[in-house]
Amino acid sequence: MPDDLFSVEDQIVLVSGGSRGIGRAIAEGFAQRKSKVVITSRERETIEATAKEISTDESRVTPLVCDVADMKAIQATVEQVMVEFGRIDTLINVAGVNIRKPALEFSEEEYDFIVDVNLKGAFFMSQAVGKKMIAQGSGSQINIASLNTDRPVKNVLPYAVSKAGMGHMTRALSMEWSPLGVRVNALAPGFILTDLTKKLWSDETMHAWGKANTPQRRLGLPEDMVGTAIFLASRASAFMTGQTLFVDGGFTAGWNWPIPE
Ligand code: NAI
Repeated sequence: MPDDLFSVEDQIVLVSGGSRGIGRAIAEGFAQRKSKVVITSRERETIEATAKEISTDESRVTPLVCDVADMKAIQATVEQVMVEFGRIDTLINVAGVNIRKPALEFSEEEYDFIVDVNLKGAFFMSQAVGKKMIAQGSGSQINIASLNTDRPVKNVLPYAVSKAGMGHMTRALSMEWSPLGVRVNALAPGFILTDLTKKLWSDETMHAWGKANTPQRRLGLPEDMVGTAIFLASRASAFMTGQTLFVDGGFTAGWNWPIPE
């Protein structure tokens, strides 16, 4: 019996921040499963190149330029997707930035830069798409959160605050929109090797610590995020909303300690 429980075929999927890393891998995962995928990021050249690379014969990925820190660009992007496709079934808020330094050293510009993209931008993207989904009476929104959604990692305060906010945003939106047919959940990746993090994890001490403290004994890859994203977009998760799933190789399962084996 063919089972469409996890099917995302023919869904219109908008990935905000899809040019590389986790967003790109998720967008490709949906395209391979015959969704109609729209990816966005700030630079035309990069987003067009990615769209070309991850398009399949059956699913042409559409690139759009949208700086998620620009409220007008968000509105224009959502309207453009509606004109072209008529609906949006799944939104994935991936766009994110980070700066690592002690709390005492952050300038106002740096703080605003991070929070504007990671939290304010994600919220107004959710709101713009939410209006369309509520009018449709259906939709799934997936926010890419972080280990910092649970507890802050040292020396990334604005990032940690933005990702903690995203956890609350996920729950708060699910409270308001679930009666209207729109589900809102989050995925919290563990340590994933991407352009955002590869310099950090190229440090041998950091890499050894990351592996030792991840029960599955490896760092993650962008592809590791695809399965749960498909799950949250599909009928398989129909009775789930307001939740944050940690996709972290077990990092948050417990405390590691140097007890002899
Ligand atoms: P990345 O730096 O490789 O990719 C970030 C994506 O966001 C790119 O497509 C970039 O173009 C886009 N982007 C950045 N600023 C934007 C803006 N103003 N407007 C539109 N798009 C923008 O990063 P990575 O690692 O793939 O991260 C993706 C998301 O996953 C981020 O939200 C990040 O915080 C989150 N995350 C990543 C983890 C990791 O270990 N790599 C762990 C936990 C969360």
